[in-house]
Amino acid sequence: MDVLLRRHDIALSTFESILDFGCGCGRLIRHVETRTAAKLHGSDYNPELIAWCKRNLPFGEFFTNELAPPLQYADATFDFIYARSVFTHLPQHLQTQWMRELHRVLKPGGHLYFTMHGRPLVAGLTAEQQESFERGRLVVTYSSLAGENLCSTYASREYVERELLEGFALVDHLEGRDEEHLKQDVYLFRKQR
Ligand SMILES: C[S@@+](CC[C@H](N)C(=O)[O-])C[C@H]1O[C@@H](n2cnc3c(N)ncnc32)[C@H](O)[C@@H]1O
Repeated sequence: MDVLLRRHDIALSTFESILDFGCGCGRLIRHVETRTAAKLHGSDYNPELIAWCKRNLPFGEFFTNELAPPLQYADATFDFIYARSVFTHLPQHLQTQWMRELHRVLKPGGHLYFTMHGRPLVAGLTAEQQESFERGRLVVTYSSLAGENLCSTYASREYVERELLEGFALVDHLEGRDEEHLKQDVYLFRKQR
Protein backbone atom coordinates (compact mmCIF):
# COMPACT_ATOMS: atom_id res chain seq x y z
CA MET A 1 0.00 0.00 0.00
CA ASP A 2 2.82 2.38 0.91
CA VAL A 3 4.48 2.19 -2.50
CA LEU A 4 1.35 3.33 -4.29
CA LEU A 5 0.36 6.02 -1.79
CA ARG A 6 3.88 7.47 -1.74
CA ARG A 7 3.87 7.75 -5.53
CA HIS A 8 0.96 10.19 -5.18
CA ASP A 9 2.05 12.02 -2.02
CA ILE A 10 -0.89 10.58 -0.11
CA ALA A 11 -0.24 10.16 3.62
CA LEU A 12 -2.39 8.09 5.98
CA SER A 13 -1.90 10.86 8.55
CA THR A 14 -4.06 13.26 6.50
CA PHE A 15 -7.23 11.14 6.72
CA GLU A 16 -10.05 11.49 9.25
CA SER A 17 -11.79 8.18 8.62
CA ILE A 18 -10.47 4.92 7.13
CA LEU A 19 -12.15 1.59 6.33
CA ASP A 20 -10.30 -1.73 6.03
CA PHE A 21 -12.77 -3.72 3.90
CA GLY A 22 -12.23 -7.48 4.35
CA CYS A 23 -10.02 -6.75 7.35
CA GLY A 24 -9.65 -10.40 8.37
CA CYS A 25 -7.84 -10.64 11.70
CA GLY A 26 -6.57 -7.07 11.43
CA ARG A 27 -3.21 -7.91 9.90
CA LEU A 28 -3.01 -4.49 8.21
CA ILE A 29 -5.10 -2.22 10.39
CA ARG A 30 -2.83 -2.75 13.39
CA HIS A 31 -0.01 -1.15 11.39
CA VAL A 32 -2.20 1.60 9.96
CA GLU A 33 -3.13 2.51 13.52
CA THR A 34 0.46 3.53 14.30
CA ARG A 35 0.53 6.02 11.43
CA THR A 36 -2.67 8.01 11.63
CA ALA A 37 -5.08 9.59 14.07
CA ALA A 38 -7.97 8.74 11.74
CA LYS A 39 -11.01 6.91 13.06
CA LEU A 40 -10.42 3.30 12.02
CA HIS A 41 -13.10 0.83 10.95
CA GLY A 42 -12.82 -2.77 9.83
CA SER A 43 -15.47 -4.86 8.12
CA ASP A 44 -15.45 -8.52 7.12
CA TYR A 45 -18.03 -11.16 6.35
CA ASN A 46 -16.40 -13.75 8.63
CA PRO A 47 -17.92 -13.20 12.10
CA GLU A 48 -15.16 -15.13 13.90
CA LEU A 49 -12.49 -12.80 12.56
CA ILE A 50 -14.53 -9.75 13.50
CA ALA A 51 -15.07 -11.14 17.01
CA TRP A 52 -11.30 -11.56 17.33
CA CYS A 53 -10.68 -8.00 16.16
CA LYS A 54 -13.23 -6.66 18.66
CA ARG A 55 -11.51 -8.51 21.50
CA ASN A 56 -7.94 -7.68 20.55
CA LEU A 57 -7.84 -4.39 18.65
CA PRO A 58 -9.50 -1.81 20.90
CA PHE A 59 -8.45 1.17 18.75
CA GLY A 60 -10.91 0.31 15.94
CA GLU A 61 -14.59 -0.31 15.33
CA PHE A 62 -15.32 -3.66 13.70
CA PHE A 63 -18.45 -4.95 12.00
CA THR A 64 -19.58 -8.09 10.22
CA ASN A 65 -21.12 -7.61 6.80
CA GLU A 66 -22.91 -10.12 4.57
CA LEU A 67 -21.30 -11.61 1.47
CA ALA A 68 -23.14 -8.99 -0.61
CA PRO A 69 -23.71 -5.29 0.24
CA PRO A 70 -24.74 -3.13 2.00
CA LEU A 71 -22.38 -1.88 4.67
CA GLN A 72 -23.93 -0.21 7.65
CA TYR A 73 -22.23 3.14 7.02
CA ALA A 74 -23.81 6.35 5.78
CA ASP A 75 -22.97 7.77 2.37
CA ALA A 76 -19.62 9.58 2.14
CA THR A 77 -18.23 8.35 5.46
CA PHE A 78 -14.60 7.55 4.57
CA ASP A 79 -11.61 9.44 3.14
CA PHE A 80 -9.81 6.21 2.38
CA ILE A 81 -10.79 2.56 1.95
CA TYR A 82 -8.43 -0.32 1.36
CA ALA A 83 -9.28 -3.91 0.41
CA ARG A 84 -6.23 -6.13 0.36
CA SER A 85 -6.73 -9.67 -1.06
CA VAL A 86 -10.52 -9.32 -0.98
CA PHE A 87 -11.68 -8.72 -4.57
CA THR A 88 -9.28 -11.59 -5.34
CA HIS A 89 -11.93 -13.90 -3.82
CA LEU A 90 -15.12 -12.41 -5.22
CA PRO A 91 -16.78 -13.40 -8.52
CA GLN A 92 -17.80 -10.70 -10.94
CA HIS A 93 -21.32 -9.94 -9.73
CA LEU A 94 -20.02 -9.42 -6.17
CA GLN A 95 -17.06 -7.35 -7.35
CA THR A 96 -19.46 -5.05 -9.19
CA GLN A 97 -21.83 -4.75 -6.23
CA TRP A 98 -19.04 -4.11 -3.74
CA MET A 99 -17.35 -1.54 -5.94
CA ARG A 100 -20.63 0.42 -6.04
CA GLU A 101 -21.01 0.08 -2.27
CA LEU A 102 -17.47 1.23 -1.52
CA HIS A 103 -18.08 4.16 -3.89
CA ARG A 104 -21.20 5.05 -1.87
CA VAL A 105 -19.43 5.14 1.50
CA LEU A 106 -16.37 7.03 0.19
CA LYS A 107 -16.32 10.81 0.35
CA PRO A 108 -16.15 12.55 -3.04
CA GLY A 109 -12.45 12.79 -3.85
CA GLY A 110 -11.71 9.91 -1.47
CA HIS A 111 -9.35 7.11 -2.45
CA LEU A 112 -9.84 3.36 -2.76
CA TYR A 113 -6.87 1.00 -2.76
CA PHE A 114 -7.42 -2.63 -3.68
CA THR A 115 -5.56 -5.65 -5.01
CA MET A 116 -6.18 -8.17 -7.75
CA HIS A 117 -4.45 -11.28 -9.02
CA GLY A 118 -3.11 -9.97 -12.32
CA ARG A 119 -0.74 -10.85 -15.13
CA PRO A 120 2.24 -11.91 -12.96
CA LEU A 121 0.09 -14.70 -11.51
CA VAL A 122 -1.60 -16.18 -14.58
CA ALA A 123 1.20 -18.66 -15.36
CA GLY A 124 -0.40 -21.19 -13.01
CA LEU A 125 -3.73 -21.10 -14.89
CA THR A 126 -4.79 -23.48 -17.67
CA ALA A 127 -4.26 -22.43 -21.29
CA GLU A 128 -8.02 -21.86 -21.61
CA GLN A 129 -8.10 -19.67 -18.51
CA GLN A 130 -5.07 -17.70 -19.71
CA GLU A 131 -6.77 -17.06 -23.03
CA SER A 132 -9.88 -15.85 -21.23
CA PHE A 133 -7.70 -13.51 -19.10
CA GLU A 134 -6.06 -12.13 -22.26
CA ARG A 135 -9.51 -11.45 -23.72
CA GLY A 136 -10.23 -9.21 -20.75
CA ARG A 137 -12.54 -11.58 -18.90
CA LEU A 138 -12.43 -12.30 -15.19
CA VAL A 139 -11.12 -15.82 -14.52
CA VAL A 140 -12.76 -17.38 -11.46
CA THR A 141 -11.84 -20.64 -9.74
CA TYR A 142 -14.30 -22.35 -7.33
CA SER A 143 -16.96 -19.74 -8.04
CA SER A 144 -19.42 -21.52 -5.73
CA LEU A 145 -17.15 -20.63 -2.78
CA ALA A 146 -17.38 -16.86 -3.20
CA GLY A 147 -15.57 -15.00 -0.42
CA GLU A 148 -13.45 -17.99 0.59
CA ASN A 149 -9.77 -18.23 -0.26
CA LEU A 150 -10.30 -21.20 -2.59
CA CYS A 151 -12.34 -18.94 -4.83
CA SER A 152 -9.60 -17.06 -6.68
CA THR A 153 -10.11 -14.45 -9.36
CA TYR A 154 -7.68 -13.19 -11.98
CA ALA A 155 -8.24 -9.81 -13.58
CA SER A 156 -6.43 -7.84 -16.27
CA ARG A 157 -6.24 -4.07 -16.10
CA GLU A 158 -8.52 -4.03 -19.14
CA TYR A 159 -11.19 -5.87 -17.15
CA VAL A 160 -10.78 -3.61 -14.11
CA GLU A 161 -11.13 -0.43 -16.19
CA ARG A 162 -14.09 -1.74 -18.15
CA GLU A 163 -16.08 -3.34 -15.31
CA LEU A 164 -15.12 -1.66 -12.03
CA LEU A 165 -14.21 1.95 -12.70
CA GLU A 166 -17.69 3.48 -12.88
CA GLY A 167 -17.79 6.70 -10.83
CA PHE A 168 -14.03 6.56 -10.16
CA ALA A 169 -10.89 7.81 -11.85
CA LEU A 170 -7.98 5.39 -12.13
CA VAL A 171 -5.13 7.08 -10.30
CA ASP A 172 -2.60 4.29 -10.63
CA HIS A 173 -2.04 0.59 -11.22
CA LEU A 174 1.10 -1.41 -10.50
CA GLU A 175 1.59 -4.96 -11.62
CA GLY A 176 2.42 -7.35 -8.78
CA ARG A 177 6.03 -7.38 -7.72
CA ASP A 178 8.02 -9.26 -5.13
CA GLU A 179 7.88 -6.47 -2.61
CA GLU A 180 4.09 -6.36 -2.92
CA HIS A 181 2.24 -9.07 -0.99
CA LEU A 182 1.92 -12.32 -2.98
CA LYS A 183 2.64 -10.51 -6.27
CA GLN A 184 -0.86 -9.09 -6.45
CA ASP A 185 -1.56 -6.12 -8.71
CA VAL A 186 -2.43 -2.95 -6.81
CA TYR A 187 -4.90 -0.27 -7.89
CA LEU A 188 -5.65 3.20 -6.63
CA PHE A 189 -9.01 4.76 -7.57
CA ARG A 190 -10.37 8.21 -6.69
CA LYS A 191 -14.10 8.81 -6.30
CA GLN A 192 -15.29 11.32 -8.86
CA ARG A 193 -18.78 12.20 -7.74
C1 LIG B 1 -7.10 -13.41 2.01
S1 LIG B 1 -8.02 -12.70 3.33
C2 LIG B 1 -7.29 -11.07 3.47
C3 LIG B 1 -7.53 -10.45 4.82
C4 LIG B 1 -6.88 -9.07 5.02
N1 LIG B 1 -7.39 -8.10 4.07
C5 LIG B 1 -5.37 -9.18 4.93
O1 LIG B 1 -4.79 -8.70 3.95
O2 LIG B 1 -4.79 -9.75 5.85
C6 LIG B 1 -9.60 -12.33 2.56
C7 LIG B 1 -10.56 -11.69 3.52
O3 LIG B 1 -11.68 -11.20 2.80
C8 LIG B 1 -12.83 -11.48 3.55
N2 LIG B 1 -13.99 -11.42 2.66
C9 LIG B 1 -14.28 -12.24 1.64
N3 LIG B 1 -15.44 -11.88 1.08
C10 LIG B 1 -15.86 -10.77 1.75
C11 LIG B 1 -17.02 -9.94 1.64
N4 LIG B 1 -17.96 -10.16 0.73
N5 LIG B 1 -17.13 -8.91 2.50
C12 LIG B 1 -16.18 -8.68 3.42
N6 LIG B 1 -15.09 -9.44 3.58
C13 LIG B 1 -14.94 -10.48 2.75
C14 LIG B 1 -12.55 -12.85 4.14
O4 LIG B 1 -13.39 -13.15 5.21
C15 LIG B 1 -11.10 -12.68 4.54
O5 LIG B 1 -10.97 -12.14 5.82
